Amino acid sequence: MKIAVLIGSLRQGSYNLQLAHTMKERYINKMDLDIAEIRSLPFFDQDIELNPPQAVKELLGKVARADGVLIITPEYNWSVPGVLKNAIDWLSRVDKVLIGKPVMTAGVSPGMMGTIRSQLHLREILASPGIQAKLLPPAGNEIYISSAGLKFDETTSRLVDDSTLRFIDRVVDKFIELTRQ
Ligand code: FNR
Repeated sequence: MKIAVLIGSLRQGSYNLQLAHTMKERYINKMDLDIAEIRSLPFFDQDIELNPPQAVKELLGKVARADGVLIITPEYNWSVPGVLKNAIDWLSRVDKVLIGKPVMTAGVSPGMMGTIRSQLHLREILASPGIQAKLLPPAGNEIYISSAGLKFDETTSRLVDDSTLRFIDRVVDKFIELTRQ
């Protein structure tokens, strides 16, 4: 099962990227996680959407070919980071490659709230007419990881908190089921 991954942080030491690497390794026998390059996407511009630059074409192709999408994002000022929103805006136009696509979301923050606001906004965005992604219901499936400094290993840069990992295991199994439907 091929899953395209969008990360809402460009930071090299990003906890959200560390979660993506953790999940890529942990679920290697269940899904093939392929982290998409969104750093070089231009700002969305309706004037060029019919003939967009190569970076946009590559992202659209990757998501179109994927069985599902995993979005892992921090919270910036109580919402989704602009770099992620920009990528989603590109994905919402022309071929509308997210319509009906299974999408799973997760997020990590060093603070107490674990990206709750960001992910609530993200769920609203993913329900919009140009997107209409297929999501698991929020109840029991919200991966908000708080206090990242205590849950990630500084040396290996991987999530090591056992109960969080076991919770993610359960959501991943449900997401795989959703993707197979
Ligand atoms: C933040 N941060 C943050 N944290 C939070 O819990 N709620 C918020 O609204 C914000 N807002 C915010 C805005 C901006 C511009 C920055 C740079 C940061 C802190 C954020 O959670 C922290 O920097 C994370 O470590 C970012 O995720 P990565 O880069 O580690 O994946």
